[in-house]
Amino acid sequence: MAKTFDVVVIGGGPGGYIAAIRAAQLGFNTACIDEWKNEKGGPAPGGTCTNVGCIPSKALLQSSEHYEHAGKHFAEHGIGVGKLSLDLAKMLARKDAVVKQNNDGILYLFKKNKVAFFHGRGSFVKAVDGGYEIAVAGAATETLVAKQVIVATGSNARPLPGAPFDEEAILSNDGALRIGRDSGGVPKKLGLIGSGVIGLEMGSVWRRLGAEVTVLEALPTFLGAVDEQVAKEAHKAFTKQGLKIELGVKVGEVKVAKGGVTVAYADSKGGAQTLAVDKLIVSIGRVPNTTGLNTEAVGLKLDERGAIVVDDECRTNLPGVWAVGDVVRGPMLAHKAEEEGVAVAERIAGQHGHVNFNTVPWVIYTSPEIAWVGETEQQLKARGAAYKAGTFPFMANGRARALGDTTGLVKFLADAKTDEILGVHIVGPMASELIAEAVVAMEFKASSEDIARICHAHPSLSEATKEAALAVDKRTLNF
Ligand code: FAD
Ligand code: NAI
Repeated sequence: MAKTFDVVVIGGGPGGYIAAIRAAQLGFNTACIDEWKNEKGGPAPGGTCTNVGCIPSKALLQSSEHYEHAGKHFAEHGIGVGKLSLDLAKMLARKDAVVKQNNDGILYLFKKNKVAFFHGRGSFVKAVDGGYEIAVAGAATETLVAKQVIVATGSNARPLPGAPFDEEAILSNDGALRIGRDSGGVPKKLGLIGSGVIGLEMGSVWRRLGAEVTVLEALPTFLGAVDEQVAKEAHKAFTKQGLKIELGVKVGEVKVAKGGVTVAYADSKGGAQTLAVDKLIVSIGRVPNTTGLNTEAVGLKLDERGAIVVDDECRTNLPGVWAVGDVVRGPMLAHKAEEEGVAVAERIAGQHGHVNFNTVPWVIYTSPEIAWVGETEQQLKARGAAYKAGTFPFMANGRARALGDTTGLVKFLADAKTDEILGVHIVGPMASELIAEAVVAMEFKASSEDIARICHAHPSLSEATKEAALAVDKRTLNF
């Protein structure tokens, strides 16, 4: 007998599990299907983000940063730690425990909100009167019928042509977060293809833990989507830390041989080069995932990249079928997926769901951190906008000096006439937290003067934000 629901969500990542919780809060009889398995074969909801993305990468970034601080910076504070040692197995076990806490937290939230959870793969069977039939195959084998379906099946790492992931020598984000589990320890030489978000975060982790890291990037510019001034500062800092970043390369044949990987590539001048490394992480973007969803059974429309086609409100071509998160257009970010999930549940309830794509913040959790919201200076120039810019360096911020971390700056871009904030770009300590103020300000259509007039605690990094806002009007107080 089929089980009937008002709403069935396929995929339990940040887009799916949040959509399911919101739908249940709104009074819908809701189910969520997710197929992710933990090592014991049990359910591990939370998707890429929780299992092999945001959460484990931040756990390792934190651990590796402690290691680097203990080895290189504690002495500046007058702290001696004796001989530094690394227990990589323990570090990885801690990361796994953090992941499990999050998996368990989601299962608890499903119970609390009365969301029925099915562990298995969900696929469309057919359209039925007033909804859709969905099969669940896996630990749970069921047939569900739903009036409304939300697809949140996420994305997968894109492999290099001719070099599939084996997660031993050629690693996706999954293998990149498990290096050393085979007791091979930290690789001496690590290569990364792509200096995007994963390339920089994972490159930082393994460099801090002792690997010699080389990143090969196809584009001639570093972090092209980031404000140029910020990208320049970040590039300087990463290079100083010892991350080797080669821009403008053309990657050729990748060969796995006993004991390592070789990558043939042409450098920016066209010269033939070879990179020989112990392991290679390929981080050249991600592709939307609709594997096993059986979209053809109901005629769900995909675009040429394999993403589910949706309108601005996440409606697909089928009535009652919605899609959110990495499997649709837009930035592949957990918080974007969550916002879309909430908005869709609210739209199903006849409410006015709302996602403002102009104020989605981006954060790269390296050291220095990079965070931004809104337009970059190069985007403003390209559209011929009249704007004013103000920057403030962390070097002139008392809290940053006390922390011993004065790299970077805060930059404001505001409309030349109205002073409305158009973009805020930060490279430096705790940029991930500082950016929230800018997001709130932009949501409220604040001017840079609004921020400049707000009392910020002293001494705090947020004073750099206030000073950058003052700088728009050329009246910084501490620089
Ligand atoms: P996913 O998280 O991919 O979840 C999809 C879920 O659906 C999975 O559990 C999958 O098993 C399941 N599924 C798929 N098909 C089916 C099916 N047919 N039946 C049942 N279940 C199915 N974003 C940030 O915002 N901040 C970060 O710091 C960050 N760090 C990242 C670090 C790394 C290394 C990576 C790879 C990504 C990172 N991201 C980060 C991106 C973020 O993980 C994604 O944007 C986010 O997970 C997308 O959420 P989603 O719900 O759309 O999909
Ligand atoms: P990315 O899109 O950030 O970067 C990919 C990089 O690879 C680009 O610079 C691109 O020019 C380069 N590239 C592409 N093909 C190449 C080739 N053949 N040779 C050399 N370089 C090549 O993708 P990434 O790093 O894989 O991450 C995927 C997505 O996951 C991100 O876009 C982001 O949405 C999400 N993510 C978010 C994080 C965060 O919010 N902190 C952390 C990690 C991932």
